Amino acid sequence: MSDTKNQSDGISRRQLLTVGAIGLAAAVAAPVLFSTGSAFAAAADGKRVLTVFHSRSGNTKSLATIIQGQLGGDLAEIAPATPYSPDYDTATVEARYQLITGKRPGNLPLSVNPASYDIICVGSPLWWGTLSVPVIAFLTETDLAGKTIVPFSTNGGGSRDKTFDDVKMICANSKVLDGFKIGGKRAAGARSDVASWLRDIGVAG
Ligand SMILES: Cc1cc2nc3c(=O)[nH]c(=O)nc-3n(C[C@H](O)[C@H](O)[C@H](O)COP(=O)(O)O)c2cc1C
Repeated sequence: MSDTKNQSDGISRRQLLTVGAIGLAAAVAAPVLFSTGSAFAAAADGKRVLTVFHSRSGNTKSLATIIQGQLGGDLAEIAPATPYSPDYDTATVEARYQLITGKRPGNLPLSVNPASYDIICVGSPLWWGTLSVPVIAFLTETDLAGKTIVPFSTNGGGSRDKTFDDVKMICANSKVLDGFKIGGKRAAGARSDVASWLRDIGVAG
């Protein structure tokens, strides 16, 4: 079997086959987070808004910055305590190992307290068809009951994408709004699409 990179998914065919049967349940949570938090601000309707994201290579950070720019509120980064490899293929193996085994380095602390917010926008890169491991950890280890969750994601063009269903599954006690997803290379130019989406889901005027 060729190990040629799968252009549609951005991960190798062999890796896809290996991980195919792995469920989200194998990915266990990690507790603490790191923040790039800005000054606290209120959204137009008076709700307190936090945008959190994990981003290994910058795409999801670009999208998160656009969302926070349009909604106001704070921006905080979910960062793994041990960074993933800068080499793409190595990072996919690291992530796959963590998804299979549930062994993870954990996240750095977040500088803001999610409990202080009403609406939490949560951004993740698409990893192996689901949320990234640090985002799974954040959602699993943080009490988000009663909050409104606004998911968003970037991807490499893969069609196996259950990120938003997985957010709903993990955040069963939250109100999860319709998410926004875009190819990573287009994330930095997504301002008008983001504005339309935020209007459609009723969190921006
Ligand atoms: C560990 C890992 C797994 C990935 N798995 C997928 C995938 O299953 N499908 C896909 O379309 N892209 C996949 N990608 C590509 C990323 O989703 C895409 O490049 C994303 O925009 C990266 O966001 P970031 O720059 O915020 O890290 C994967 C990337 C990594 C590092």
